[in-house]
Amino acid sequence: MPTNRELFFYLQKEGLPNSVITFVLQEINGFDRLLLAQNFDREIKDFDALKIAIGRYKSGEMIEYVFNKAYFLSFPFYVNKNVLIPRQETEQLVVMAIDKIRKKFSDKKLNIADVCTGSGAIGISMARELANHKFFLSDILEEAIHVANINLERAELKNVVTWVGDMLEPFIKNKIKLDVIVCNPPYIEDITTIDQKTWKQEPHLSLLAKPETKYYEIILKNYKKVMNEDFLLCFEIGENMEKSLTEILEIFGKKVIYSFEKDIYGKTRFLFIENSLK
Ligand SMILES: C[S@@+](CC[C@H](N)C(=O)[O-])C[C@H]1O[C@@H](n2cnc3c(N)ncnc32)[C@H](O)[C@@H]1O
Repeated sequence: MPTNRELFFYLQKEGLPNSVITFVLQEINGFDRLLLAQNFDREIKDFDALKIAIGRYKSGEMIEYVFNKAYFLSFPFYVNKNVLIPRQETEQLVVMAIDKIRKKFSDKKLNIADVCTGSGAIGISMARELANHKFFLSDILEEAIHVANINLERAELKNVVTWVGDMLEPFIKNKIKLDVIVCNPPYIEDITTIDQKTWKQEPHLSLLAKPETKYYEIILKNYKKVMNEDFLLCFEIGENMEKSLTEILEIFGKKVIYSFEKDIYGKTRFLFIENSLK
């Protein structure tokens, strides 16, 4: 059997990215990153499984779907083809949202929703960090909520409930008043702007919106039905959406304060909206 080191360099020569090779070696050995480094010269545990996984990756399958796993803020989330693979920029949304929540609400007990939750990556990561608040995770797709429930069990959280439903409907129906909504909705109108691997494998329900602002508008037009007076809305947005979303926000005049913020690559990818101060 080859060692992890031999395989690492062999796969590197074959053109696989280091991040994918490391992910595969970790999963096949059942190691975390540190254990892999400590056992780099050991023989690989299951060479046949590795060959199958690499074969699937080479034929185009995303490595996260091959192993039904995606790391998000270091937590191993279960994923399958009913949910989007959570992205790095979304990790930044979570970190920024937590920071804003702490600053705005200090010790108040809050109701926080992750609308369009998919795998539950946003809501579950936030609930792990903000254990005193109550979290509601919702998605229109029952299969996505099934995935979120698996992740909820893995995270052993007691402060989270999940609902199947269309955007704000579950909250209206259950008469829940929220303090915070965090949402990464579908926002792709032009499919030529996304990469082919994503289009072929990830659920179209997670990606498509026509117009691109559709789901933001649903929340903005209905937020008063579900939000408390002091509220915060946190959105991930597409790269070129600042203008179209600003036009929608103008109808609120001075009733709300909003800011667009950039990701680590300097692209405008987040929108935060809150009530204006009395
Ligand atoms: C871009 S994905 C985001 C998934 C996850 N929150 C993340 O950031 O990785 C959008 C999610 O919205 C869900 N969705 C699509 N239309 C919806 C609707 N009308 N109401 C609620 N959820 C919807 C999809 O099923 C999908 O899980």
